[in-house]
Amino acid sequence: MAAAAGLALLALLAAAGAERGRKVSMEYNPGWNSSSVNLLHVRAVGPEDTLHYVWSSIGAPSVLLVATQSPSSALRVNWTQLLSPSPAGAIWIDPPDSVVYSTAVVFTKLFEFSEAKPGGELFYPTYDLSEFSWDSLNHTLNHTALTAELSGVPATDPGGAFSNGSLAFRVTAYEAAGRAGALPRLLHTADSSQLQFLLAGVTPRGNGSRFLLQLATVEPAGAARRLQRDSSIDDEYTPSIFQVLSLRADSPNSSSPLPFLQWKAVAYGSRSPRREDSIQCRAGELSLANGSLPGASVLQAFFGDSWDSSCTVSALNVSFGGEEGQVYQERRYLSWSVLLGFGQPPRDTFSPLVISITAVALGTPLAMLLLGSCLLLLAQRRRYSEYEPIN
Ligand SMILES: *[C@@H]1O[C@H](CO)[C@@H](O)[C@H](O)[C@H]1NC(C)=O
Ligand SMILES: *[C@@H]1O[C@H](CO)[C@@H](O)[C@H](O)[C@H]1NC(C)=O
Ligand SMILES: *[C@@H]1O[C@H](CO)[C@@H](O)[C@H](O)[C@H]1NC(C)=O
Ligand SMILES: *[C@@H]1O[C@H](CO)[C@@H](O)[C@H](O)[C@H]1NC(C)=O
Repeated sequence: MAAAAGLALLALLAAAGAERGRKVSMEYNPGWNSSSVNLLHVRAVGPEDTLHYVWSSIGAPSVLLVATQSPSSALRVNWTQLLSPSPAGAIWIDPPDSVVYSTAVVFTKLFEFSEAKPGGELFYPTYDLSEFSWDSLNHTLNHTALTAELSGVPATDPGGAFSNGSLAFRVTAYEAAGRAGALPRLLHTADSSQLQFLLAGVTPRGNGSRFLLQLATVEPAGAARRLQRDSSIDDEYTPSIFQVLSLRADSPNSSSPLPFLQWKAVAYGSRSPRREDSIQCRAGELSLANGSLPGASVLQAFFGDSWDSSCTVSALNVSFGGEEGQVYQERRYLSWSVLLGFGQPPRDTFSPLVISITAVALGTPLAMLLLGSCLLLLAQRRRYSEYEPIN
């Protein structure tokens, strides 16, 4: 216990030291004077590097994440080419050799199913997100809050399930590390953005049917994603949710920061979520999905024509709702938050509240001991780092 609290204090100190910010700007359809399509460029400039996020609804909703080692790297789009049947090469970063890592996440399909009588599942016709019609996100762009929302409905909706509803992706970019205000109160860094998947007002096609979102990640040759399920230690910010999942890239010969997705095993059935609005969120197994991504024109535009053979494509299903009840059926609202970015995914440590309760409970002598061991650890770390140059 004492060691754990000591480590937590140490992590807090380290986090405070590692704090650095970025200057973030958002641009809608750069260089294109029309709102018939959506392309949102989020540029996050640091002292020595730039991260580019390119959100788009051209094809299936997707985001390109590009890390560059230049504070002045720029996104270029050849719009005539991008909107043509052969978009390969229409999106690039200038200068090209500043790119240290590029990856993409595509949201491909929304499945809906209900429990069928003999223990099976009944699937309704799939919503293919590359066949949605999307509103212009231009009017949702908030350059101060650094948010934008991409909202759409199926291009054809014979059953009218979306007649009073929509599916949306809400983006929030960050200039510094912190924690989101609303549940699940995800931690973020300046090297990440938050995405909320929202389903609002959509009529379920079955009695208590559940939804399942399929996403795919695209990694350059040699790199691969893996799904990691960790236990969270903190029960103060996201009460009763203990599982944190992350989809991390492994790349043996990359010295650049690697991309990640991170989320908690929970969604919420309310616009202003409280603990009792929780909807269970489960991830399936990560599987290879080469050559099977429909409507991936932005990927083709950036990674080139042979991207589906040269890149590693992995697919993952995330399902919402469990045995605990029919929250969506009642609320007609679902919100799932996920963090996307580069580097080390943020980790919860014991919160100041928990630490102070522990300190009071253990009494002052132990608290002194804790502080002492922290200082000792710090001193040791300093000694080690002094030794390093000799090697
Ligand atoms: C954009 O792409 C088109 C079609 O490939 C090409 O003809 C044109 O020269 C390109 N424009 C620029 C500015 O590169
Ligand atoms: C449409 O949605 C609104 C709010 O989401 C709700 O108040 C209203 O009752 C819905 N109308 C129908 C016909 O479902
Ligand atoms: C839907 O489910 C509820 C609760 O399980 C049940 O009371 C109701 O009869 C069901 N309705 C239909 C049409 O199956
Ligand atoms: C996701 O779920 C659908 C429907 O059950 C299934 O067809 C598909 O293979 C699943 N994909 C992955 C990656 O598990």
